[in-house]
Amino acid sequence: MKYESVHTAKSSQAPAGIDASAWPTDRYERRMLHVSEHPLIHSELTRLRERSCPGPEFRQRVRRIASLMVASVTARLPTQVVPCETPLELTSGVSLQRPIVLAPILRAGIGFLDGFLDLLPDARVAHIGLARNESTLVPEPYYFKAPAGLENSEVIVLDPMLATGGSAIEAIRTLQDAGAHHVSLAVLVASPEGVEAMEAALPHVPVFAAALDRCLNEKGYILPGLGDAGDRLFGT
Ligand code: PRP
Ligand code: URA
Repeated sequence: MKYESVHTAKSSQAPAGIDASAWPTDRYERRMLHVSEHPLIHSELTRLRERSCPGPEFRQRVRRIASLMVASVTARLPTQVVPCETPLELTSGVSLQRPIVLAPILRAGIGFLDGFLDLLPDARVAHIGLARNESTLVPEPYYFKAPAGLENSEVIVLDPMLATGGSAIEAIRTLQDAGAHHVSLAVLVASPEGVEAMEAALPHVPVFAAALDRCLNEKGYILPGLGDAGDRLFGT
């Protein structure tokens, strides 16, 4: 098999021994795309990709990777100076300028949510129900419920997979129509096609990915990918 090994830490580069011309290159290193280079994320992801990784282990690893991604996804959030009274004196510190809303795309985004909530327990949650039509690959909306105050929140859309990009774009537009201004997208695995679709449709929305994979297959699945994230998370 030509692409038997998955990524090195520098996931936008071809693994050693692989034909680099067939792998996403620097042209996908757009200003708003942030691909993780963290060794813990990549070792977790490697096991997650394995066909033999069972459901309970898959869920735990998705949760851990999500938590490991929180620092980079939130690294650029604006802060404000606030007073801070220690037991010894009055000093100053910072707080986030805006509250966080996490927006998982149902269903698979739910598996990604807990790891974010573990580190962001004050975040509120917007749920966006989308199901990708398996023939057309077009996402079909079935549910949307968001907390009030989206205008003044940092909204982080969560989905393990960015494949054609249709679901992420539909979710972000739904949130923007509901008032969200400050939106980013966090995914486990992105495809170059999905990144390009995001670039064309929503060029100002930052995308954070644990890994950037090679391409989509003819059925719209990411290669090497990890299969159907929702099915693996929920045993369907
Ligand atoms: C999967 C995945 C994304 C979407 C990605 O969901 O979780 O939401 O496909 O594909 P795209 O980038 O081509 O839109 P799916 O619609 O299969 O639903 P599920 O989460 O219920 O499994
Ligand atoms: N959705 C998934 O769950 N996996 C893919 O590879 C593409 C879309």
